[in-house]
Amino acid sequence: MKIITICATKGGVGKTTIAYNFGEWLAAQGEKVLFVDLDQQCNLSHLYDLENVEQNVGNIFTDEEKLSPITPIDNKANIDVVPGSPELNSISSWIATKKQKSPMYMFLWLKKMSKQGVLEKYDYVILDCHNVYDDVTINAVVVSDVIFSPITPSEFGYGAKFAFSNILDESKSEIIDFATGDSYIKARLYFIANMIRHNTSSSREFLEVLESEDDVVAYLPEREIFNKTTLEYNPISEMLKNDDPKYRKQKKVLRDIAEEFKKMKDVVDNS
Ligand SMILES: Nc1ncnc2c1ncn2[C@@H]1O[C@H](COP(=O)(O)OP(=O)(O)O)[C@@H](O)[C@H]1O
Ligand SMILES: [Mg+2]
Repeated sequence: MKIITICATKGGVGKTTIAYNFGEWLAAQGEKVLFVDLDQQCNLSHLYDLENVEQNVGNIFTDEEKLSPITPIDNKANIDVVPGSPELNSISSWIATKKQKSPMYMFLWLKKMSKQGVLEKYDYVILDCHNVYDDVTINAVVVSDVIFSPITPSEFGYGAKFAFSNILDESKSEIIDFATGDSYIKARLYFIANMIRHNTSSSREFLEVLESEDDVVAYLPEREIFNKTTLEYNPISEMLKNDDPKYRKQKKVLRDIAEEFKKMKDVVDNS
């Protein structure tokens, strides 16, 4: 079982779109996927029609003994979801008061899930984060094998890559077992270049800068079909299987995207 966090300190860079399509693609390969929605906007939960669910991710961040907040989706093979909580911001402020325990709630929950034999059902756990690097996001980072951070060819795209690496390094040096000096954060950080446009100077410059960097594992084009996936609840993996003429023309693009997902999977499997 591998745990993947998708996060960035910027909104609208494609975190949820990538989490959804990558997770669905893994499920289509026969892998068992658990999504955890760590954004108070609950966009990922919305895609599975799981809004205002009482058993939500908020139950992970508590000192009370509660039932595990896993909500299986019966109508979708290979995918389970822990729905998001609209209260996540106040939850985050609450965890921040918890001192040493504050980064460890997700860790403790997973340990409990593992004891109950629930966690072993999954091949991949995907955590879709919100746009701030707060205590909730740090909880995700602490349990992760891999962090995927989407970056885009916007004005501050490359700066965001640099800034995120620094933030993570800081957490790594702070969240440690003081007896051994080892960091609790073991995750490898990789970047996904998203919304790459054809023939625009900003995308070209962006790609030139990234070319020399080996931590950029996938390149995803800016395509209307990504919008469609979330608007129509129809992931890339479903479109690939669909013989409808409206998808047939897009088959090459869809296959290219699937190739990038394969690269992401390889990175995770080798972590
Ligand atoms: N590669 C892409 N091509 C075109 N649109 C994209 C792409 N990736 C994301 N989007 C669109 O950008 C918007 C923001 O994406 P979203 O995944 O919600 O970002 P985040 O979770 O980082 O806030 C959405 O409308 C989504 O459809
Ligand atoms: Mg999102």
